[in-house]
Amino acid sequence: MQIVHLTTSGELGGAETSLLALMAGVRRAEPHWSVSVIAPGAGALVDELKARGIPVRVLPFPLALARLGESGDETRRFGRRATALAASVPYASWLARALKQEHPSIVHAHGFKMHILSALVRPAGSAVIWHVHGYIGQRPLTCGALRRLSTRVAAVVANSRSVAADVERVLGTRAPIRTIYNAVDLTDFVPGGSRIDLDALGGLPPAPPGTVRVGLVATLGRWKGHATFLDAIQRVPGDVPLRAYIIGGAIYETDGSQVSLEELRRQAEARGIGSRVGFTGFVRNVADAMRALDIVVHASTEPEPFGMVIAEAMACGRAVIASRAGGAAELINETVDALAHDPGDADQLAGAIVRLAADPVLRARLAAAARAHAEQAFDCERLAESLVPLYRTLATA
Ligand code: GLC
Repeated sequence: MQIVHLTTSGELGGAETSLLALMAGVRRAEPHWSVSVIAPGAGALVDELKARGIPVRVLPFPLALARLGESGDETRRFGRRATALAASVPYASWLARALKQEHPSIVHAHGFKMHILSALVRPAGSAVIWHVHGYIGQRPLTCGALRRLSTRVAAVVANSRSVAADVERVLGTRAPIRTIYNAVDLTDFVPGGSRIDLDALGGLPPAPPGTVRVGLVATLGRWKGHATFLDAIQRVPGDVPLRAYIIGGAIYETDGSQVSLEELRRQAEARGIGSRVGFTGFVRNVADAMRALDIVVHASTEPEPFGMVIAEAMACGRAVIASRAGGAAELINETVDALAHDPGDADQLAGAIVRLAADPVLRARLAAAARAHAEQAFDCERLAESLVPLYRTLATA
């Protein structure tokens, strides 16, 4: 069996982190299968693949294609799309050539750009899987393209039931849809282990003993809820011994899709909480950062397709507060293994933070239940048990 994964980023966002865990699971189950990756740029994912001895080839997206997205300034979009489309034509033939050399039985494509390209250039004798990590329905152009190309696809994997329902609304029954939850490396994301010095990294003086640390761990996507988090921190009374951290950096090239750390710093200053919030930037070892927190916040203002951060924080045995919408709501049992708030509701989020800051026993109870839940739901072996038979069926079809 030869499996080639196509990714839309060489950096490490949620989709790429989940790909690493997926490959680890499949490799453990089927050590003799060959697995390789084609990525459109260098970055932390590519470095990590090399470190793990997984063959990876960087086939750089032309800039216009890398920057193309369905967010950002409406008026400038048309020209950009035309340029991106023109740039995609030679890229598609490079990709076709690269794939042909690998003779894959399975082309496993992650991210909308690679979904489209994989269907266009599918080599003879291979089955294409679209692994859907986000909501298609929100993107009119992508929707149209995927609908047209979906008959060339052998199967669609959705990362949550919520995403599967969205795929079904868009694609109907054109391709079989399977929900497979992402996995987390449960040996790396463990409650005990090394911790990053978040204060030093965030340029803050050491916090006094007894300080409760709460962090939003996210890429700088505009919908990840940084403003909601800062609003919530502003609402936490000054006498609560709390320090907040924004952990993550800009990793995507898509136009207009991210906030900058400078903008967030300004927002914190404007709210009068500059000295209470540390900004770490991109952190390579997320588990070490999570273990340095008492409370991990997920605050996406739009439905989160899955939410790797939630699964990872649960595996690290942290008290989690999640935004209850989309796939994220499927990952937790509210009040048993996590608390939750409505997307964008800073009052509710502040309430949950204050409650957890004051109650170490509650934090410990949620944390223990979260780890148990993660072991059962986000195990790499469990993922392989669903994916390996799917690969087998499609490869022999
Ligand atoms: C995307 C989604 C995120 C999910 C990840 C892995 O980044 O936005 O919710 O956790 O893919 O599937």
